[in-house]
Amino acid sequence: MNAPDVYAKTALPDTGLRNYWYPVLAGWRLGRKPRAIKILGEDIVLFRDGGKIHALQDRCPHRGAQLSQGSCLYPGSGTLTCPYHGWTFSGDSGRCVAKLMEGPETVIPPTTGVKSYPVQEHLGVVWLFVGDMDAVPLSDDQPECLAEDGTWHGFSTWRTYHCNWRVLKDNLCHDLHAPFLHRNAPELVLQPIFPHAVQLSAEPTADGRGVGYKARGGISKAEYPGLGQFPPQRETWYRRLKPTGRGKDIDPTKSPAVVKYGYLHRQSSLLPGITLIGRPSGDYFMCRWVVPIDATTTLFYTFSRFRRRGTLATLRDRLQWIFWLSWTHDWLFSDQDKRVLERVKSQRETLSRTDAGVAAWRRFVAEHARRPPANHQSDRQAAAE
Ligand code: FES
Ligand SMILES: [Fe+2]
Repeated sequence: MNAPDVYAKTALPDTGLRNYWYPVLAGWRLGRKPRAIKILGEDIVLFRDGGKIHALQDRCPHRGAQLSQGSCLYPGSGTLTCPYHGWTFSGDSGRCVAKLMEGPETVIPPTTGVKSYPVQEHLGVVWLFVGDMDAVPLSDDQPECLAEDGTWHGFSTWRTYHCNWRVLKDNLCHDLHAPFLHRNAPELVLQPIFPHAVQLSAEPTADGRGVGYKARGGISKAEYPGLGQFPPQRETWYRRLKPTGRGKDIDPTKSPAVVKYGYLHRQSSLLPGITLIGRPSGDYFMCRWVVPIDATTTLFYTFSRFRRRGTLATLRDRLQWIFWLSWTHDWLFSDQDKRVLERVKSQRETLSRTDAGVAAWRRFVAEHARRPPANHQSDRQAAAE
């Protein structure tokens, strides 16, 4: 994104925050053939061999061919061979281990190679660490509902958004677009009305990974002089449905989410671009992960996570997701945002009261985003030089 925009004044880079893990691909989509992906503006090839997934820079250092057009010519060796002249690279270190057109005697300098990326498969998803330092443990970057597979189960979906990642993440900072943009979403027909004009506050989460939002009060109906009522009369059929449950903020004294599990925020924004939205029961989280592809394209990964509570409850949760949430939320509800976000022009903005959560998130990133230690060079970088 070359035109100056509102983010130029923030610490949010246009291709995303480096030095974090990101979900990049459903594991079943990576078969026998190498696969090209782009994350944080970097072209990367993923391949499976020797019982592992490997991730390398998708550009051969010889004369620039795409390694993703190559193949695992020696199955089980964990190597990938360039399609052009047969240079062959270790999937673990990225080092060039053979130049097939030069004979086995040729001497290969140890510095000849490509960057390799830490990669793992978890929850049926391929995760990549993209950055300039040694990887932290994957669980360091995941909220509990993703890291602790024994306690939670669920599903994941993904969509590609044609907008910058910051535009999408701002949309998930409790900016009160939901009571307006989603007010007639099919998913909410049986759900409570989201109140608007709430008192919104943002504070650091207890684990220091992000910002938690608290909303108090609010109204579901108002009279605007010269205009009439909001919501307009013609929408009141929908408003007659009883507002209980999900639309309320966590009761600070009574909800199981607080009393039983100690969750303080119904919604939070976590580094590097995660939104966590819970329910008062404390038994469900929607974890939405904004993954920058490049400056104008974003992968949006959604994990619906249910607490494991016995066979019947697990079955009910899974059926609820398959037959209801998967299409009403991950598809129809989210498409209401997608339609708007893909046309947002971010050259200028006029922040207002409802943007307190957006401003808090941007400030938090500026102060707390992970940076490599001074003078640090990861082993993988060293191998690629
Ligand atoms: S370009 Fe890859 S081996 Fe020549
Ligand atoms: Fe939305």
